[in-house]
Amino acid sequence: MIDIHQHLIYGVDDGSKDLEMSLAMARLAAADGVERIVCSPHSNDVYNYPVDIINERLAELRHNLRGEIELSLACDFHITPENISEAVAKPFSYSIDGKGYLLIEFPNIILAPGTERVMFELMSAGYRLVITHPERYPFVHRSPHYIAQWLDQGCMLQLTAGALTGKFGAQCETLALELLDRDWVQFIATDAHNPDRRPPLMKEAFDFVAQRKGIETARRLCVVNPRSAVEGRPLGAQPEPIGLWNGVPLKFHLPGYKPQRRQMPGDVGLPPSAGKSFLKRFFGR
Ligand SMILES: [Fe+2]
Repeated sequence: MIDIHQHLIYGVDDGSKDLEMSLAMARLAAADGVERIVCSPHSNDVYNYPVDIINERLAELRHNLRGEIELSLACDFHITPENISEAVAKPFSYSIDGKGYLLIEFPNIILAPGTERVMFELMSAGYRLVITHPERYPFVHRSPHYIAQWLDQGCMLQLTAGALTGKFGAQCETLALELLDRDWVQFIATDAHNPDRRPPLMKEAFDFVAQRKGIETARRLCVVNPRSAVEGRPLGAQPEPIGLWNGVPLKFHLPGYKPQRRQMPGDVGLPPSAGKSFLKRFFGR
């Protein structure tokens, strides 16, 4: 397996704290069947992605882990004005091994206005965008139709391994399973931060997916697509995403939030009956 999202570089974000912890995480991953880890430190308002320190520690980890596991470098790229202008000015600076796949993280609470345009800019600059852990954002739980919009726009999705097996709670699990079942997902990764509470383990999720969707799907999400991302190649053939192109909304919704249908090509507005109750429509009033 290849884990495309891990906070393995120590001391640069809220992931690994020191060299020992990083080595322990890498060895846990190797024992779990991971052959390559993509190290993806945060770059946001709190953690500023210090490139020189990151490269130094990456080299140190590679030196210590020779022959045990391979390491790549990327970024957990937050949509901030500074990040975007730098990413557009210096393609493919934050992407996986500089080959174009960019891991995108949003703020938890709301999606900033203009995000769609920013993503368009990044894609126009040649990046392939991977939206990380869509199943975990509170704003997505309230408005799950964003996910279809991202896929429509040409983005890919990365689920968290632990979310599929209930380690992030029932809501994340329910949404992750629906995305998996509808073939809307291209990657599974750990987003590991430490060896115990957010561990770098994928095998349980791999086995779960193999049992639920078949071994080929598990291999596609945990091995084949991640390899394409690391090598900077387009993904191979993917299954047709169920209900995406004809606008079938996700069933997932929070209590009190109804699934929304996104605007589809050819929509010319709501029918005159929209907004009326069933009884009013039934009696024609
Ligand atoms: Fe992350």
